[in-house]
Amino acid sequence: MRNVLLVDCCVRGEASRTARLARAFLGALDPAAFHVTVVDPAAEGLTPLTAERLAARDGLLARGELGDASLRFARQFAAADEVAVAAPFWDLSFPAILKVYIENISVSGITFETLEDGLRGMCRGKHLVFLTTRGGQYDGVPWARLEQGSRYMEAMSEFFGFEKYVCIAAEGLDMVPDPEELLLAAEAKARALAAELAK
Ligand SMILES: Cc1cc2nc3c(=O)[nH]c(=O)nc-3n(C[C@H](O)[C@H](O)[C@H](O)COP(=O)(O)O)c2cc1C
Repeated sequence: MRNVLLVDCCVRGEASRTARLARAFLGALDPAAFHVTVVDPAAEGLTPLTAERLAARDGLLARGELGDASLRFARQFAAADEVAVAAPFWDLSFPAILKVYIENISVSGITFETLEDGLRGMCRGKHLVFLTTRGGQYDGVPWARLEQGSRYMEAMSEFFGFEKYVCIAAEGLDMVPDPEELLLAAEAKARALAAELAK
């Protein structure tokens, strides 16, 4: 049994098209092979780091108290065999709650370690799958460089030590009267990836 962690940053909840992609992905995972855990950073009440919280966390790390409850999201992320992150494209990247989650899980000694010659990822996960939907078009266009969501997640994937980064995006959804076909095509890709992971 492999553990899959879905990080749900679909702010619009049930109405979210990105959440549809996440459901397609999870629904196509073989239940005999994968155990799925969903973490919803907003529902968990995660907040940005403050000076006080940073000092408290530094204290825990200095004392080697990595089992503290406040570090449980970092431990959960580091232990997952596969991680999928679902977040819509907002303001050229993603909603702030995903950055808040990343702040909370980027913990030296749990998700990465500091070595003499630099930083090394400590996450066990093989794939980091980023599921997103975008109102406009950002793939294969002259302004593709403006897309900062998937680019950033790819960098974090490497930083955390994942073997492979995969982004599945439905694009241009707000530029057509009916985006259903675009969504169906992305859902099919998400299902195919889920089947691929079982191999
Ligand atoms: C606050 C906000 C910011 C957005 N920023 C962008 C943007 O910068 N570029 C873009 O193409 N679409 C943008 N959109 C449109 C969304 O990317 C698009 O509607 C997406 O499918 C929403 O995902 P959801 O249905 O999962 O909420 C934005 C939407 C919202 C609500």
